Amino acid sequence: VKKVRTHHLRELKERGEPWPMLTAYDMYTAELFDEAGIPVLLVGDSASNNVYGYDTSLPVTVDELIPLVRGVTRSVKRSLVVADLPFGSYQVSVEQAVATAVRFMKEGRAHAVKLEGGRHFAPHIRAIVNAGIPVMAHIGFTPQSEHQLGGYRVQGRNDAFDAVVADAHAVQEAGAFAVVLEMVTAEVAKQITHDLSIPTVGIGAGPDTDAQVLVWQDLMGLRRGKAPKFVKRYANIADVMLGAAQEFAAEVRGHQFPGPEHTFH
Ligand code: KIV
Ligand code: NA
Repeated sequence: VKKVRTHHLRELKERGEPWPMLTAYDMYTAELFDEAGIPVLLVGDSASNNVYGYDTSLPVTVDELIPLVRGVTRSVKRSLVVADLPFGSYQVSVEQAVATAVRFMKEGRAHAVKLEGGRHFAPHIRAIVNAGIPVMAHIGFTPQSEHQLGGYRVQGRNDAFDAVVADAHAVQEAGAFAVVLEMVTAEVAKQITHDLSIPTVGIGAGPDTDAQVLVWQDLMGLRRGKAPKFVKRYANIADVMLGAAQEFAAEVRGHQFPGPEHTFH
């Protein structure tokens, strides 16, 4: 089995072949998505609101994320595993950013790290790359800055177009191997994808990025309720799981489970 490396992703871009990326936070999802041929798995800080039950991505800590990263990296054969640096673990200083990235590599056994920020985080990206750690950047709408950005809003409209493009150039220049574009207009995503030699990974960024990423609980329909416009639901596993739990409960209450075939003598 050939491991996915960052240069393979760049080769896919050069060949014009779009590639998929998914979040994963545990062993079975990592095994399945690896088997499905998803080249890049992200242990996102979205674990904050998809695993740990917080209401935003801000509260989750490095100590909460590292065990999830370790579970995912232990479970893949081929996929490249990217660990997200959570809020507060890299913004304080370039030194803090390198130290946190090192922890995710040593303790989490990650293959790369991701952080949010463009021009203002170019020094952080450069320093982590110089430490021998591949960095995926994340620009456009950056959820860790939701309070600063005034909520979930599409970035890159009108006057903000050039700012997002400048962020993209800055992260490439700083040595990032790829860049996530979140909730930006399709127009700005297309421009950036054309300009950059590193792959762009879109989430709510239209059809023209080099790759597409979604949070797995959104795509599988485990998270219920109204999903953002950019989510497509490919399955409805919430209903499958709810049905199974209800059936188990009913069979226990009805003395139907366990049956003779589940019983030792
Ligand atoms: O944390 C996350 O899941 C992410 C992706 C949505 C890009 O950052
Ligand atoms: Na994230």
